[in-house]
Amino acid sequence: MSQIRTINHSASGASFQFHEFGATVISFKTSSNRECLFLSRDAKLDGSKAVRGGIPLVFPQFGQPDKSMPQHGFLRNNIWKIDESSAYDNESGAGISLTLNLKDVKNSRGGKWDENTKYDLVATFSINVEAAKMSTELSITNTGTAGEKFDFQTLQHTYFRVDDRAAYDLKQCYVKGLEGYAVFDQITNETSTVGADPIVLEGNVDRIYTPPSGKEVVSVNIGVGGGKVMKLTASGICDDSAIPVSCVVWNPYKEKAAAMSDFGNDQYEEMICVEPGLLGTTSLESGKSAKLTQVIELC
Ligand code: BG6
Repeated sequence: MSQIRTINHSASGASFQFHEFGATVISFKTSSNRECLFLSRDAKLDGSKAVRGGIPLVFPQFGQPDKSMPQHGFLRNNIWKIDESSAYDNESGAGISLTLNLKDVKNSRGGKWDENTKYDLVATFSINVEAAKMSTELSITNTGTAGEKFDFQTLQHTYFRVDDRAAYDLKQCYVKGLEGYAVFDQITNETSTVGADPIVLEGNVDRIYTPPSGKEVVSVNIGVGGGKVMKLTASGICDDSAIPVSCVVWNPYKEKAAAMSDFGNDQYEEMICVEPGLLGTTSLESGKSAKLTQVIELC
């Protein structure tokens, strides 16, 4: 039975909670006790399914472009090891790291990542909290034999909590900062470019935003209701080179929410997923590391 842990930042009173299953952060409370992450009331917390809410980690594929591998990969579906020696709580913040070695991955393998894979890796996820800010960094190191490189996609699939009913109040819930990004609508298969208007939810939304050339770091403001804004910044690096960060915006709306066994039927009005990630094809050489860092801050 895997466990849930809470890490408190003594100096500010902020805290976060994570589940060993998937190293999934399931709560981030600021020093003013505001919950910033959405967790479905029907989320499975017994390790039988990826957690519906918080920050599930997506790797080595986003969605299911390769049908022989499971949707969103295996990081979110396996028990990670808590690195107790990494825990700290000091003036500037509190945090901890978890690791997952490929040899300990039991669930959701497949395709070129099946049990007989020639690849090897270690994943590390580090979480830090301070007053109104949480930083999360996923690092993947290719520990395979020399010459064995692999391609991957990765995301931090962040579920933001918005005030009850705010998601469909266009003045309260929006995403700003993706102007000029190319949009691929995963529902209609249409492509377009983001204009000056903020992105608002108008129903079932499932879109991929790809940055214009030269834009590496993604930085967006998310309206979360009550006059509050969550600022999200994310950057990616692979073998010391910056990789442009894309962003997925998702809300299942009524019908899809009702069709998911682990999602409260009416809870689509309490959340918006804004998911920064490396969605191009990034190749990682053996001995090298890639990192995806997300910082969220309540303003
Ligand atoms: C989003 C995808 O990232 O995750 C959606 O864009 C998908 O297409 C959603 O429905 C949830 O995925 P899952 O596997 O957690 O149900």
